[in-house]
Amino acid sequence: MSTKILIIGSGGREHAIGWKFQNDFLQKEEELELFFTPGNAGTAQIGTNVALSSLEDMRDFALENLIDLTFVGPEVELADGVVDLFQAANLRVFGPQKEAAQLEASKAFAKDFMAKYGVKTAAYQNFQGRHLAKEYLQTQEFPIVVKASGLAAGKGVIICQNLEEAEKAVDEIMLDKTFGDAGAEVVIEEYLEGFEVSILSFFNGKKIVPFVSAKDHKKIGEGETGLNTGGMGVIAPNPLFTNAHLKAFEEDILEPTKCGLIKEGLKFAGVIFFGLMVNQKGVYLLEYNLRMGDPETQTTLPLLKNDLFDVVNKAINGEEFTLDFTNQNACCVVLVSGGYPGNYEKGYEIRGLEKVDCPWFVAGAKQADEQIVTTGGRVINVVGLGDTLQLAREQAYENIKKVHFDYQYYRTDIGLV
Ligand code: AMP
Ligand code: GLY
Repeated sequence: MSTKILIIGSGGREHAIGWKFQNDFLQKEEELELFFTPGNAGTAQIGTNVALSSLEDMRDFALENLIDLTFVGPEVELADGVVDLFQAANLRVFGPQKEAAQLEASKAFAKDFMAKYGVKTAAYQNFQGRHLAKEYLQTQEFPIVVKASGLAAGKGVIICQNLEEAEKAVDEIMLDKTFGDAGAEVVIEEYLEGFEVSILSFFNGKKIVPFVSAKDHKKIGEGETGLNTGGMGVIAPNPLFTNAHLKAFEEDILEPTKCGLIKEGLKFAGVIFFGLMVNQKGVYLLEYNLRMGDPETQTTLPLLKNDLFDVVNKAINGEEFTLDFTNQNACCVVLVSGGYPGNYEKGYEIRGLEKVDCPWFVAGAKQADEQIVTTGGRVINVVGLGDTLQLAREQAYENIKKVHFDYQYYRTDIGLV
């Protein structure tokens, strides 16, 4: 009998998770049936895309189709309680319950958790009212960071150079409601200089097991300039992240996080993604995400030696496991629609994917008759692998040149450290 896995989400991350499951099952010569909801043109090539409009529909689909495991990609479904709903129906699901998902869905909740358990992070205050927030700003040094507390698709963070900018940010978030309900509360925090590192991990309710480190490239322009995006490329491992940094991360962030989760009764089987800032004073936690990163997933899963189904099952069972990565380097470059992260047009035909000879994933495209056409800002991820970062970069860039659609754009400096 074949194993059935349902993956929730529609991006390159979900395509990569499915690809990893598929490769592992091919290797062990076991049958696998993959379902994605809603999926995309890439996931349709390795499984079945299913349109399901509510969390209840997803649960019912999993029950009716005897799904063995559901892997939740995006944060929104987690924050809405998809895991609680599946667990109540005795379904096996990988991800945090709604309460733990608040560590991502509420930055105010996350900062209070970090403070309570001594997780190293920037100094901060939370505010539910505009006036107190502005009074506090009068006493602060600049630059300072103003954040909408709720989920804002990575856009609710404003770095302010002076008091005027900071007051404007508070008004944008709390008065104009630029990020909707996400701005009902703000976090105002110390600005940290340094370089960023992404560390994914799996938690089994007792132990947090980290992935290889990664480096995201968040800005649209070369040399980290221009607007923030969902991520224009990632390399792994992060060449700036030393063993000393790893030790500091484990002591100052991973261990206190684990102790806090256990003390608070937030024991889940799922992902913890640590967004770090590293400087002379140590390793700081900027944020938790309770899901895999995008495109960190596309970059790190090709380096993971373990059987993904096996480790996820062990995590759900609360069993011990290790994660082992190859010594290779990976470089993921994201091909986007011209205009992104602002306005862009969709519906352009994508050509040349069949010529790519390294892992590639669909981030935003759908099948339209015989063609694959763009549907999103981030469209295709190409992942080069090599014994050195340079070889991985070369493979990614040689292959991305084979893919074409109108008005496409990509950064040529991913992995140039
Ligand atoms: P977050 O969603 O909290 O990770 O914030 C998004 C981005 O804003 C981060 O990846 C950083 O580039 C930047 N950022 C957030 N908090 C700070 C901080 N305290 N100091 C400097 N930059 C920050
Ligand atoms: N690449 C950053 C994220 O997934 O949030």
